[in-house]
Amino acid sequence: MFVYFVSFLSIIHVSNGLSSPLTTFTTYQHSVELQSTVADLWWTVNETNQTIFFELHVNTTGWIALGISPAGGMTGADIGVGWVDQSGKVTFQDRYAYTFALPVRDNTTVDWFATQGREQNGWTAIQFHRLLDTCDYMDVAIKSGTNTLIFAYGLVDPSAATSNDITYHETRRGSYTLSLRSYDDPPPESKFAGMNYFDFQTKNYSIPLAATTYLCTVYKAPAIYTTKQHVIAQKIVLNSTNPAIVHHLLMYECDPTTQFNDSNLPNDLCENLLNKLSKCLANIATGWAVGGDFMSEFPPEAGYPVGGNFSIKYYVLQIHYSNSIGCTNCVDNSGIRFYVTDQLRPNDIGYLTFGTDTSSTSLTIPPGVQSFAVDSYCPMNASLLFPTSGITVLTAFPHAHLQGVSIWTKLIRNKTVVEYLFDAEVFDFNYQFINQLPQRIQLYPGDEFATRCMYNTMNKNITTFGGESTTNEMCLHMFTYYPRVNNLYGCITVLSPTSWANFLKMNSTYNSTAVEQIAANITWTTNLRTQWQNFYNNASRVTVYGTSGNMSRIFLPKIPYYADLAQENCTVQKYDSPISGACIGNLIIWQILLISIVFVLFSNKNHH
Ligand SMILES: *[C@@H]1O[C@H](CO)[C@@H](O)[C@H](O)[C@H]1NC(C)=O
Ligand SMILES: *[C@@H]1O[C@H](CO)[C@@H](O)[C@H](O)[C@H]1NC(C)=O
Ligand SMILES: *[C@@H]1O[C@H](CO)[C@@H](O)[C@H](O)[C@H]1NC(C)=O
Ligand SMILES: *[C@@H]1O[C@H](CO)[C@@H](O)[C@H](O)[C@H]1NC(C)=O
Ligand SMILES: *[C@@H]1O[C@H](CO)[C@@H](O)[C@H](O)[C@H]1NC(C)=O
Ligand SMILES: *[C@@H]1O[C@H](CO)[C@@H](O)[C@H](O)[C@H]1NC(C)=O
Ligand SMILES: *[C@@H]1O[C@H](CO)[C@@H](O)[C@H](O)[C@H]1NC(C)=O
Ligand SMILES: *[C@@H]1O[C@H](CO)[C@@H](O)[C@H](O)[C@H]1NC(C)=O
Ligand SMILES: *[C@@H]1O[C@H](CO)[C@@H](O)[C@H](O)[C@H]1NC(C)=O
Ligand SMILES: *[C@@H]1O[C@H](CO)[C@@H](O)[C@H](O)[C@H]1NC(C)=O
Ligand SMILES: *[C@@H]1O[C@H](CO)[C@@H](O)[C@H](O)[C@H]1NC(C)=O
Ligand SMILES: *[C@@H]1O[C@H](CO)[C@@H](O)[C@H](O)[C@H]1NC(C)=O
Repeated sequence: MFVYFVSFLSIIHVSNGLSSPLTTFTTYQHSVELQSTVADLWWTVNETNQTIFFELHVNTTGWIALGISPAGGMTGADIGVGWVDQSGKVTFQDRYAYTFALPVRDNTTVDWFATQGREQNGWTAIQFHRLLDTCDYMDVAIKSGTNTLIFAYGLVDPSAATSNDITYHETRRGSYTLSLRSYDDPPPESKFAGMNYFDFQTKNYSIPLAATTYLCTVYKAPAIYTTKQHVIAQKIVLNSTNPAIVHHLLMYECDPTTQFNDSNLPNDLCENLLNKLSKCLANIATGWAVGGDFMSEFPPEAGYPVGGNFSIKYYVLQIHYSNSIGCTNCVDNSGIRFYVTDQLRPNDIGYLTFGTDTSSTSLTIPPGVQSFAVDSYCPMNASLLFPTSGITVLTAFPHAHLQGVSIWTKLIRNKTVVEYLFDAEVFDFNYQFINQLPQRIQLYPGDEFATRCMYNTMNKNITTFGGESTTNEMCLHMFTYYPRVNNLYGCITVLSPTSWANFLKMNSTYNSTAVEQIAANITWTTNLRTQWQNFYNNASRVTVYGTSGNMSRIFLPKIPYYADLAQENCTVQKYDSPISGACIGNLIIWQILLISIVFVLFSNKNHH
């Protein structure tokens, strides 16, 4: 049995409509309201020619700006700044922010290009584009995974009165974190008005004072669905005295053989239910995590089955509460609403998880490491359970905790990588999204999967272990697909007991506590850190696949060899950003210009 626990920090994402009164110049794949009544953004990504097209609308007739931030603030951000003058002429500039100060003009290569713009009803609209990676050290690559956008605007266009430069934006700025290359646009709730629905929601649960609580509640498929139905959309309902305390929800499916007393379904702290739920807690279905949108929808050709003769009868909703603010009378009614139809779609949705198990025997990571790689591998035994016509993968949900920095899964055919199933080049614990694959991917029997989680422990001086709390680590990569394969939920890799025993010169009495005790006592040196990574690279593993209660195991003497993708290199020389010193001159000029305003520009993360 392997049990997944997940924990998250809290930022509430309020998703809503767009504000701009202007129509866009063209249609786009995606849109978000960056700030209500102030700024909207539309965009389309063309992965074929690696170009992203933006259209930014801001409630001003002055300058407007959109930036790509490497770390959430203004430092090192790549910024496109533009305005439309009285004659309708559009000016657009490629700028770079060395620090919290006026971004300088990019004097290497100009990579942001405006195509058109206009001013109307007090708003400015500009359409522009950029390569995803410009290979220019005065730009920031738009990576797959989590991106942080910053935006700002001024009240006037640059003119002689402002020394022909942009004016300080003061508080007219914000940031927005999302996945530009894999955004899963939430549908409006109104689209499902009038449809049947059912809820798996807690009922007046008194949230304990403990900093970390995992509540597990068993639900049964509604009895009124005597014939099979399809869930076509779902809404995460955060109905709590303080919704910020709800860190994540995860729904599991119980094995069809599971039996519960229907008049007294289990409902308790998860730690008290591990035995009762042993045939449930490896079968992850849907979920939500901090930073995610509330509404999501399946494509027209597939639905999530429920009711009738569908084999799954029981579900577990696991909710992680983090009551670090110490709310004493917090009551929770959160959960998931499922919109259902009896108009069955051609395919049933399924869920598939790769990665490692959550114990210290899979995840024991030295402190002070910039990039620690943990690999797992799913051999073809698992994919032989796919139908011969294949399965279609729709979305990816990468998951690690605070030290996680990137997560990828590669699709391997005939010992050769074909493509990434999904590559979260940037993973941010505070913003966890369901990623829509840029293109759906078809998988076939015989396919194999390599998954890597990368961790950065430079901010730690103690060993990091696998586990459920946010200070422990996880490595999971979850996918939705159709048609559903009923006997496969996961393909999870564990370092083999014998490899640990040999490495740490332990006995057969070895267990994860023993590994923790030894690792916790190590005085880490550079040499030991390297040895530890080498051990991870070469250790034998056990891969476990199937469903809760029916797992098969495969021994892997080491991660199998595969021919990797060719490394893509910039055609233009890349430099390390010369952050220090270079901008002092500009900074002084800017400060004199604005008479000592303190620059903490763009630096606050919004609670979008
Ligand atoms: C634009 O901003 C003004 C001033 O804040 C506000 O009154 C107006 O409602 C905004 N326009 C829109 C469409 O939100
Ligand atoms: C993406 O770019 C390629 C190459 O320029 C072009 O052939 C294709 O039509 C573009 N796709 C879209 C959706 O615009
Ligand atoms: C990419 O394709 C789009 C649409 O086909 C086109 O407008 C754009 O110029 C192309 N960019 C590059 C760098 O080829
Ligand atoms: C570009 O601007 C920076 C300051 O922003 C300056 O240090 C550098 O010398 C300039 N490079 C060129 C080629 O003009
Ligand atoms: C939850 O508590 C409220 C207020 O005390 C009460 O009105 C409501 O009936 C309760 N709901 C359930 C399902 O117990
Ligand atoms: C929150 O839950 C309570 C109790 O079930 C219910 O009365 C209330 O309508 C819910 N509020 C929302 C916004 O769903
Ligand atoms: C697999 O790869 C080998 C070596 O590259 C090649 O000879 C063989 O034809 C490939 N098999 C298939 C089914 O593609
Ligand atoms: C380890 O880090 C903690 C928290 O940052 C600090 O209080 C402690 O002094 C550090 N210990 C060592 C040995 O560096
Ligand atoms: C190995 O096991 C023996 C007894 O079974 C015990 O005395 C010894 O301390 C163990 N060694 C280690 C390194 O755990
Ligand atoms: C795990 O190992 C530790 C340390 O060797 C030991 O104290 C503990 O009893 C072991 N636990 C189990 C369940 O074997
Ligand atoms: C780890 O260190 C503690 C405290 O120094 C000690 O009591 C314990 O025996 C050590 N454990 C191992 C396995 O060396
Ligand atoms: C990219 O650079 C790496 C490292 O320098 C090199 O091994 C690789 O062959 C290069 N790839 C291409 C496609 O040029």
